[in-house]
Amino acid sequence: MKKILVIGSLNIDFSFDVEKIPEPGETVNATNLKVSNGGKGANQAYTIGKLGGKVSMLGMVGNDEYGKNIKNSLKKVNVNVKKIILNNKEQTGKAFINVSHDGENAITIMHGANYAMDKDFILKNQNEIKNADIILMQLEIPLKTIKEVIEIAKDKIIIIDPAPANRNLLKLDLSNIFLMKPNETELSVLTGKPIKDEKSIVNAARCLIKTGVKNVVVSLGDKGSYLIDENSYKFYPSIKSKAIDTTAAGDSFIASIALSLANDKTLDESVKFASKVASLVVTKKGAQDSIPSLKEVI
Ligand code: RIB
Repeated sequence: MKKILVIGSLNIDFSFDVEKIPEPGETVNATNLKVSNGGKGANQAYTIGKLGGKVSMLGMVGNDEYGKNIKNSLKKVNVNVKKIILNNKEQTGKAFINVSHDGENAITIMHGANYAMDKDFILKNQNEIKNADIILMQLEIPLKTIKEVIEIAKDKIIIIDPAPANRNLLKLDLSNIFLMKPNETELSVLTGKPIKDEKSIVNAARCLIKTGVKNVVVSLGDKGSYLIDENSYKFYPSIKSKAIDTTAAGDSFIASIALSLANDKTLDESVKFASKVASLVVTKKGAQDSIPSLKEVI
């Protein structure tokens, strides 16, 4: 089995159950507050660990109770957490999440220690990168850090989840990126193109492919996903389930693709497996709390 290294964010999530996501200037009531472990990077590492993968994580949390808890809970699902550093100057990253009754969410992030992951941190830990086969990153850490990783990880399978979307990602050398997984909104922000239908999805994904990215998976929530490369594309319908909270659905989806690739499956097989995982994640509240075991998936 190939070794996966997740480089990314760890947050503590404050999730509010709301009737509807507030508009600008609007105040809404929450019927519940759930405090739980999250962060796109940590959710991905947790998924891979819980589903039986060989995974390590490179990241930073504050030297506080939240940070220590997140690290411990990753350890419990066999994530190698030796390189999750407790930072004495910054607090653990925080996410404030409004979850509406139909399961949709809107997230505000306070980066905290995640943004202390700089070039020096990567250079100090480059052996972790060299020892891995697959590198999985998201955009809740500085772009300069991602640039540094891409330069060191030239011979690795690099997967980027461009969330939250940042157009400056396209200024980096992406010729060594094996796979990128935007959702519709992220694809539109990255390419500046409106996403309306299949044709617009495929065309926008091909803009990413022109930058050097080999494969693009576009996730469309409960509609399904597309796998697109230079010459072909395929639609994968979602597996229907009752969505209660979509938080971490995208994280578990890309993490499951990474895990499946680590088990030498094809991209086609990997997207199918990931669709199953994500369809289960949305049926439970919270981020890491909603990740299923392998037994529940197969
Ligand atoms: O993708 C979901 C995650 O986004 C949450 O866990 C939150 O921490 C934010 O990073």
